[in-house]
Amino acid sequence: RALGPAGPLRRFGLLRPSGDAPLDLDQELVLGPGVFEFLLGWGGDVGLLGHDPGEVAAPRVVLPVLSSDGLTRLGRALASGDVDLAGLWFPPPAGPPDGQLDAVRALAQAAGKPLRRLTSAVEDDLRIAAAVDAVLWIPVDDVPDETLVAALVRSRVPVCLTGLKPWRPASLLAARSYGELTIPSPDFQDRRAMWSAALPGLAGPLLEDLAVRYRMSGGELRAVASVAGAGARLAGDGQPVAEHVEPAIATVTRGRSGGAVQAILPRRGLDDLVLPGPQLTQIMEIASAFRAWPRIAETWGFARRSAHGGVKALFTGEPGTGKTMSAEIVTGMLGLELLKVDLAQVVSKWVGETEKNMETAFRRAEESHAVLLFDEADALFGKRGEVRHGTDRYANLEVGYLLQRLEASDGLIILTSNLKENIDPAFTRRFHFVVHFPRPGAAERRRLWRLAFPPEAPLAADVDFDVLARLDMTGAGITAAARTAALAAADATAASIGMRHVVRGVARQFHREARLLRPAELGPFAHLLDSEAP
Ligand SMILES: Nc1ncnc2c1ncn2[C@@H]1O[C@H](COP(=O)(O)OP(=O)(O)OP(=O)(O)O)[C@@H](O)[C@H]1O
Ligand SMILES: [Mg+2]
Repeated sequence: RALGPAGPLRRFGLLRPSGDAPLDLDQELVLGPGVFEFLLGWGGDVGLLGHDPGEVAAPRVVLPVLSSDGLTRLGRALASGDVDLAGLWFPPPAGPPDGQLDAVRALAQAAGKPLRRLTSAVEDDLRIAAAVDAVLWIPVDDVPDETLVAALVRSRVPVCLTGLKPWRPASLLAARSYGELTIPSPDFQDRRAMWSAALPGLAGPLLEDLAVRYRMSGGELRAVASVAGAGARLAGDGQPVAEHVEPAIATVTRGRSGGAVQAILPRRGLDDLVLPGPQLTQIMEIASAFRAWPRIAETWGFARRSAHGGVKALFTGEPGTGKTMSAEIVTGMLGLELLKVDLAQVVSKWVGETEKNMETAFRRAEESHAVLLFDEADALFGKRGEVRHGTDRYANLEVGYLLQRLEASDGLIILTSNLKENIDPAFTRRFHFVVHFPRPGAAERRRLWRLAFPPEAPLAADVDFDVLARLDMTGAGITAAARTAALAAADATAASIGMRHVVRGVARQFHREARLLRPAELGPFAHLLDSEAP
C-alpha cells in the first residue's frame, strides 16, 4: 500500500512510475530527482525533495473567517456524510481570489479532514482523496467540462466547489447530497479582527484605519505581516509598527497594471488644487465619507438599509478643470493607489468586450484595494447626456452593466465626464457625490498662475499675475502655458522666465484651443503679442 499511487512516497514524488505499466502492480518505480544523493548523505534541500501537488497546507495563523458558523455546520455535515458535495460561492465584491482558500480551509478543518486540491486528472485526484480520506477542493471559475461532472456523479468523495458564481449542474446535484453557502466579503468588524490577528502589535486606531481602507484576504494579510516583520527586523526594531506596515501593504498589493487600466501613485495634495470653497469641501467630504462609511454602515446598521456599499462620486465639468487631478488627490488623502480606466479606450466596438474589460478593472481594483477612476465616462452617453438607447443598444447594455456593478462594489469609485447638467438623473442618482467643476474665476486663476511655476523656477520681476489672471483660462490651460513659457525661456537661453515668454505660452494655448487672444486683453503687455505669430 505504501508503494501505491496514494501512498505518501508516490504522492510526494519520492518514487515515480517509470513508463506506463498496464497494472499498477507491474509498475516499475524510480527514485525522484535528488533522492538518491540525499540518501547517500550528500546533502540536499528536504523542502525541494518531496512535494505533494494536491496537498493544501494548514495556515500558520488561523484568521477569523466570516460566516464561520455556516462553515462549521457545513463542515460537520461533510464529516457525517449528510452532505458530500459543498458549494462555496463568493459574490462580488469578492476580494482577492485567495480569500476562497481561507474559507475552504475552514470548511475542511470543521470536517476534521485534510484538504486536497484538484491537480490535473480528476479521477486520480478523487482516488487519492478517497485513500487519504480528504476533502477535494475544485475551483470552478472557468466552467468545468463534462468529464468532471461525470466523475463527480460516480464518486462519493467529499468535494468542495468554489467560485464567484454558483455552478450547479442538475445531474450532479441529483446524484450527490449538496449543501451550499454564499460567503459575503468580510465586514468591518471581521476585517478589524483579521488585521488584529495578523499584526497583534498594532494600536487600535491604526487597526480600524487599516480595516476601513483595505479588504484583504487572509493570505494577503499573512504576506503583509511577513513583509512588515522582515522590515521591522531589518530596521532593528522589534514588533512591526505603522511605519513598517504601510510599505508592506504597498509591496503586497501594488503595481499590477496594463491594458486600458493604468495605476497611478498620487503625488499631489490638496494644496496643489485650486477650486472654489464648496467644491473643495466636497472633495474633502468624499475622502472622509470613505473612511467613515464602513463604521457607519456596519456598526450603526445602515448596511441593512441600503444595497449600496462603498462611496461613488461623479465629477463633471469642462476639460482641464481638474477632475482627474481631484481623483488623484482624494486617493492620496486616503493613502491608496489609483487605478484609472480610460472608458473611451475600453468602449470597443465588439459586443461583450467592454463588459469584460470593465469587469477586469473592477476585479483588479477590488484585489488591490485601489480607488477606481473611470475617466471620460462620456463614451457611455449619447450626445445630450442621456444614457443611449434604441439604435445603440450595446452602449446601453454597457451602461446597465456599469451601474449594476457600481452598486455591487464597496470601494471608492469615481467617474469623470465633460457633460454638465444634462446627464440622465437615472444615472446621477447612483452617486453619493456629484461635484461640478466650474471654470476658474479671476481669484482662482491668480492662484493657478502662482502654482504653475514651481518655487525653483527663475521668474522675472515683470511677470504680472494680476494681468494674467484676467484671461479666461482653465487650470490645464494655465499649466500648459507656463510650461511653454519655461521652454521658450530655456530655448532663448534667457536667465529667467519673463513676461514675453509667458505671453508666448498664453498665445500658444489660445491657439491650441482655437480661441482668439486680443492684444487689449493683455493691457500694458499688448505690445508683446505683436511679435507673436502663432
Ligand atoms: N482646479 C485645478 N487646480 C490645480 N491645477 C489644475 C486644476 N485644474 C487643472 N489643473 C492642472 O491641469 C492639469 C490637467 O487637469 P485635469 O486632467 O485634472 O483636468 P480634467 O478636468 O480631468 O480635464 P479633462 O476633462 O480634459 O480630462 C492638472 O494636472 C493640473 O496641473
Ligand atoms: Mg481628465
